[in-house]
Amino acid sequence: MCDCRSGAVWTLLLVWLNSASCQLVVRGFVGEDVVLPCIYSNVDPLPDKVSVFWRDKDDRVVLDIVENSEDQMSQNVKFKGRVSSFPEQYRKGNFSVVIKTLRQDDGGPYDCTVHRMYFQRTVSLTVSGERDVGVSLTPPPGGAAVTNSLHLRLLAATLTLLFCCVT
Ligand SMILES: *[C@@H]1O[C@H](CO)[C@@H](O)[C@H](O)[C@H]1NC(C)=O
Repeated sequence: MCDCRSGAVWTLLLVWLNSASCQLVVRGFVGEDVVLPCIYSNVDPLPDKVSVFWRDKDDRVVLDIVENSEDQMSQNVKFKGRVSSFPEQYRKGNFSVVIKTLRQDDGGPYDCTVHRMYFQRTVSLTVSGERDVGVSLTPPPGGAAVTNSLHLRLLAATLTLLFCCVT
């Protein structure tokens, strides 16, 4: 129907707008732990031994996974003892990390790069002082101004994620 179609056009436009700053936003709270996701999704299969590099906005070493093992030596002092990954998930391409006891200054973008596989993801972490109701996944501010419907925003966020995953 006509309505459906214009809805689809709007959604595509939103996806396009969002993809300009295609970023996953994760929300955390001071003192709590948060998982920063990084799921390898290229078609090329991963080698047996994978290296993955996590960096923060100032290019500090958050965590290096070198040939399937966490390198504690290279880790920046800011993240020492606070960041770990899930080795049992590596073979599924899941290189997510957990940051423990969040600090206010942990907020910002984080990059996850899978070495030699041309794969990089940016996760933006927002750290709030205290817990309240909120969604852990929000579209970038531009998307919110375009639509006033929460439903459409959620749909756009979902599609953005899908879009992120296939590109
Ligand atoms: C990746 O691993 C983490 C930790 O086990 C888990 O919470 C998350 O759901 C996993 N993600 C996927 C897509 O498997």
